[in-house]
Amino acid sequence: MSKNFDVVVIGGGPGGYIAAIRAAQLGFNTACIDEWKNEKGGPAPGGTCTNVGCIPSKALLQSSEHYEHASHGFAEHGIEVKGLGLNLDKMLGRKNTVVKQNNDGILYLFKKNKVTFFHGRGSFVKGDANGYDIKVAGAAEETITAKHVIVATGSNARALPGVPFDEQLILSNTGALAITEVPKKLGVIGAGVIGLEMGSVWRRLGAEVTVLEALPAFLGAVDEQIAKEAQKLLAKQGLNVSLGVKIGEIKAGKKGVTVEYTDSKGDAQKGEFDKLIVSIGRTPNTIGLNAEGIGLKLDERGFIAVDGDCKTNLPNVWAVGDVVRGPMLAHKAEEEGVAVAERIAGQHGHVNFNTIPWVIYTSPEIAWVGKTEQQLKAEGVQYKAGTFPFLANGRARALGDTSGMVKFLADAKTDEILGVHIVGPMASELISEAVVAMEFRASAEDIARICHAHPSLSEATKEAALAVDKRALNF
Ligand code: FAD
Ligand code: NAI
Repeated sequence: MSKNFDVVVIGGGPGGYIAAIRAAQLGFNTACIDEWKNEKGGPAPGGTCTNVGCIPSKALLQSSEHYEHASHGFAEHGIEVKGLGLNLDKMLGRKNTVVKQNNDGILYLFKKNKVTFFHGRGSFVKGDANGYDIKVAGAAEETITAKHVIVATGSNARALPGVPFDEQLILSNTGALAITEVPKKLGVIGAGVIGLEMGSVWRRLGAEVTVLEALPAFLGAVDEQIAKEAQKLLAKQGLNVSLGVKIGEIKAGKKGVTVEYTDSKGDAQKGEFDKLIVSIGRTPNTIGLNAEGIGLKLDERGFIAVDGDCKTNLPNVWAVGDVVRGPMLAHKAEEEGVAVAERIAGQHGHVNFNTIPWVIYTSPEIAWVGKTEQQLKAEGVQYKAGTFPFLANGRARALGDTSGMVKFLADAKTDEILGVHIVGPMASELISEAVVAMEFRASAEDIARICHAHPSLSEATKEAALAVDKRALNF
């Protein structure tokens, strides 16, 4: 096996494995090193996203949504379910199978594209513009060389100071995806993306969920109108979210976890929970890379410092994904991975940060791209807004899910779409149309004049675009 490579990627998550595949497609002799282990100690490429992130969380969100529909959603369709039961073992087993399918898929793609895979931890030994030596510590230890290195080592869950994760009572995303008995009372600290998604899963399966959030506003980064609507809908489902809290002492004992906090009025409160998920953000992972030894610069928050092209301070060393600035999203990591491989090949790889979509996979889903109304106001941009509720959409009525709306924000003068915000059924799929439109710098009028299939949820998108010009047809 060749030990000298054109490109070595450290980290096999969405940023790393996609970068490796693209580099191989471009004709580079490429290796990817990833240390993630499955329960048998074997390789499990795919990173956080595949193993304890995007994929298993969506598997459990789907299963728990089916369970909730069977519990009370089907009744209005005239479907009566008797003797409904929950086999949590099987549900978790299915989730593990979905994860494994993805791990195996990546190993297959490496073979297909002739990417050499190393299972172990990669760290810099020495190097300069002429090449780098990288130690791989796995079952055996070996050193490989690379002309170019792409670092894609991802991120880890951030713990509260003095409250380490034990994954039994105090859970990061890893433990939150593997609870073996539905807790009666589940506490969640942080009403961000993980808090709302994992809180939804366990609430649907029967837990009483309390989410404690430090900020006074619900989903502060989301368009205010959409966030308010989402907050109302999630509260109606029974997800208790307390905003503006200050977390105090946390004690884990035999019976569970006690969280002392002050509420938004400043009153002292105590929450008693069977389990506690702490989802207060993630920190970049540079453990074991020997960044310091080789002089790889980190920024003040511990991310690998990169320029707009993902170049680090070291010649021919690049970094992508969660370990660098920007949103911690799998698709952002992938786009950066592709762009870097293309830049190494002398091409003009490009990532448009203005059109990266966000999705929160609650029910209904929340999705957006571009600017929020509050951002446009703060920037003094003159804009027009148009909204359309799913209540007035035939397909949503037929589905039995009429919650939420689509909202367009367009430039007041040019009508260029500046942001699209959706809370409602299948928002994750609907947002793609807006992303394409914004990438092509379309106007709201462009979307308003495009024929959309009937009956479809996407008609709500067209109608919201029409509403920008105050001429929605069905509302
Ligand atoms: P990672 O996926 O973290 O991969 C890094 C890999 O590098 C890991 O396998 C790690 O073991 C390996 N590694 C680290 N250091 C070394 C080393 N020195 N040597 C060898 N290997 C090393 N994003 C979305 O877009 N959509 C979602 O629905 C979504 N859901 C999520 C749900 C949860 C619960 C979580 C926690 C995250 C979710 N994310 C989601 C975020 C997404 O998982 C990350 O943005 C994405 O995984 C980042 O990819 P990455 O390649 O940068 O890093
Ligand atoms: P987050 O940044 O989304 O949310 C963290 C929340 O915790 C914030 O609302 C913050 O104000 C709050 N918080 C911080 N410190 C606190 C404290 N001491 N007490 C109470 N609240 C506190 O982070 P989260 O949910 O951990 O997820 C990490 C990242 O993973 C996300 O930002 C996202 O990039 C990615 N992710 C993406 C998903 C998706 O795309 N659907 C799903 C899950 C995660």
